[in-house]
Amino acid sequence: MKALIAAGGRGTRLRPITYSMNKHLIPVANIPLIVWAIQKVVEAGITDIAININEGDTELPKAIGDGSTWNVKITYIEQVGGALGVAHVIKNAKNWLGKDSFVFYLGDNIVLGSINPFVAAFQEQHANAFLALTVVPDPERFGVPQINSAGEIERVIEKPSNPPSQFAVTGIYCFDQTVHDAIDTLHASNRGELEISDTITAVIAQGGKVKYQIVEGWWKDTGKPYDLLEGNRLLLESMSDDRAQAKMIEDGVDIQGKVQLGNGAQLLGKTIIRGPVSIGKNAIIADSYIGPYTSIGHGTEIDGGEIENSIIMDDTDIQCSTRIVDSIIGHNVTIQNAHMTKPSGHKLMIGENSSIEL
Ligand code: G1P
Repeated sequence: MKALIAAGGRGTRLRPITYSMNKHLIPVANIPLIVWAIQKVVEAGITDIAININEGDTELPKAIGDGSTWNVKITYIEQVGGALGVAHVIKNAKNWLGKDSFVFYLGDNIVLGSINPFVAAFQEQHANAFLALTVVPDPERFGVPQINSAGEIERVIEKPSNPPSQFAVTGIYCFDQTVHDAIDTLHASNRGELEISDTITAVIAQGGKVKYQIVEGWWKDTGKPYDLLEGNRLLLESMSDDRAQAKMIEDGVDIQGKVQLGNGAQLLGKTIIRGPVSIGKNAIIADSYIGPYTSIGHGTEIDGGEIENSIIMDDTDIQCSTRIVDSIIGHNVTIQNAHMTKPSGHKLMIGENSSIEL
C-alpha cells in the first residue's frame, strides 16, 4: 500500500498564524502536524508516501525532506490549479498512485495511537473504500454518513445543515483504485470543490463496497484554533516523561508531573513546571511558571512568565508577568511587560486577523 497525505489548502480558519506558515507545519506538542501524520503511516508499514502541497510551496518539502529520516521515500505532488477540494488531491495524484491501494490522510488531522488496526481492517474486509467514523457534537462541520437500518452507508453528505447521523467521517481513509473512476464522475460542489464525501457516495453508486470502523477518543480535526489547543493537550497527555537531553535544571526548579525537555533546554531559577509540558530544544525558562498542556518551542526564552494551556512556537521571547492562558503564539514573537518603555501602556504590533484579550 501507498499513502497520500494532503498538506495543501489555505488554512483560512487559522489566520493569522497561517499567513506566514503552512498550517501543516504548526507544531502540536512540539512536533509539526504533518510529522505526526507521516509517523502514523510509517508505523503502519508504508514506505512509499506522497505529500500533496500547494503549487510553488518550497517551505514544506524543505522542512520535511525526502523521507530518509524515517527510512521511507517521500514524493511531493503540487496541486495544479489550486486547492480545488479534498477529492482533487487524489485526482491530482492519480499517476503516482497507479493501481495501488492507499491510505489517504488529511495532514491536519490528529490521531492518538495507531492506525494499524484501521488499515488491517480495510485489507481484511476487501473494501473499495474504508472510513473511520466518530461521534461528534457538531456533525454539520464535517462529512456525515447516512446509515441504513442494516448498518450500511448509503451516502455521505458534506457539511449538512440537517445531519442524518451524529457521526463525522474523519480525515483518514483507505481506498483502492476504483476511487479514480468515482472521482471522474464528480462535479464541483457549492463551495467550488471536488468533495471527498461525494467521492464516497460515487463509490457506492458504482457498486463499490464502502465499509467503516467506529473509533472513539482517537481523532481530532484541527480546523479552528481551539482544536489545536485541544490536540496539543491530548498529545501532551499521551507522551512520556523525558528529561535526559536537558542541558541544565537548576536546584531551585520544581518539576511536577510529566515533562519532555528538548536537547539543550535549560530550566533556571525558581521555575515551576507543572506537566504535561513539552519544552523545545535550546529553550530557556527562567523564574517562570509553565502550567499543564503547554508546549514551548525550540529556542524560545521565557523569563518571569506564567503560561498555561498554550502553544508557544520557536524563537519567541517572553519577558512578561501577565499570565498567558489558552493562547497560540507564533515564531519570533516578542512579549514584554507594559512598563518596559515610556509611555507605559500596552503597545501592540498585531497583524490582520489576530485576536487578543487585554
Ligand atoms: C474535510 C472533508 C470532510 C471531513 C473532514 C475531516 O473537511 O471534506 O468530509 O469530515 O475533512 O477533517 P474540510 O477540512 O475540507 O472542511
